[in-house]
Amino acid sequence: MKRMTKAVVPVAGLGTRFLPATKALPKEMLPVVDKPAIQYVVEEAVRAGLDDVLMVTGRNKNALENHFDRATELEATLISKGDTQKLAKVEESTILGEIHYMRQGDPRGLGHAVHRAKRHVGQEPFAVLLGDDLIHENDRLLDRMIEVNAEKHTCVVALMEVDPSQTHMYGIATVEGTGDDDVVVVKDLVEKPDPDEAPSNLAVIGRYVLEPEVFPTIEHTAPGRGGEIQLTDALATMARDPRQRVHGVVFRGRRFDTGDKLSYIKAIIELAFEREDLGDELRIWLKEQLGN
Ligand code: G1P
Repeated sequence: MKRMTKAVVPVAGLGTRFLPATKALPKEMLPVVDKPAIQYVVEEAVRAGLDDVLMVTGRNKNALENHFDRATELEATLISKGDTQKLAKVEESTILGEIHYMRQGDPRGLGHAVHRAKRHVGQEPFAVLLGDDLIHENDRLLDRMIEVNAEKHTCVVALMEVDPSQTHMYGIATVEGTGDDDVVVVKDLVEKPDPDEAPSNLAVIGRYVLEPEVFPTIEHTAPGRGGEIQLTDALATMARDPRQRVHGVVFRGRRFDTGDKLSYIKAIIELAFEREDLGDELRIWLKEQLGN
């Protein structure tokens, strides 16, 4: 069987929650400790074998292209200084895989952004990774989703239990169990329901493995929540169609949401704790702060 190689990463969002930081800087470039959030996402895709990455971008996103490109002047300076450690850090993001870029054009929603990848993807299953969600590198969520797709030949979404008060921030699934503890059949999906209307507290987190049939389905999907073409709505149509179906992988590992300020700060602290060069001192300092 052919190995899955393609990942689509929609990055056209304006990042208004982080203004003014995101006035001139794409939100995906905000550092999580010392690496831009987007690099974690591309590294995750590449670890899962997806080394053909298509970023669907918008205006003011040039910094993303620069980040994954060579920086010859900077490299030359570091070479002349013999600073091989920093050189390795600069080069890290340029040797990850093959990264393609295309513009979304009109910002008409996540479904629309994914649909822009139609030609690039062709007739193969592919993954979609949303930049706001970071998955801990020890948790191989994407590998598991690719495995389930290969077995079931359906679209696969990543699901995670969230606090019932949070359902208005996510696509929420109605599910049925399978023989596998971490795999469910998705019977229906609804985009960002209020807690009293949510069918469950199983939220779609930003990882999808999609079959190419998603493209014609998106084409027939009317604008939904917020007047946008929602990927969730297209997947709901597929989930309700017994000839297509959708599966979910229930993720119980560590996910960091960098999409809002508080969880972004938490993500930085949690990941810095794990770092040899920062963890111990940070812990001591934080304890002191809390003691005051
Ligand atoms: C998007 C999807 C939503 C999903 C979420 C995961 O929403 O529309 O269904 O649950 O990503 O992060 P966004 O956060 O882009 O508004």
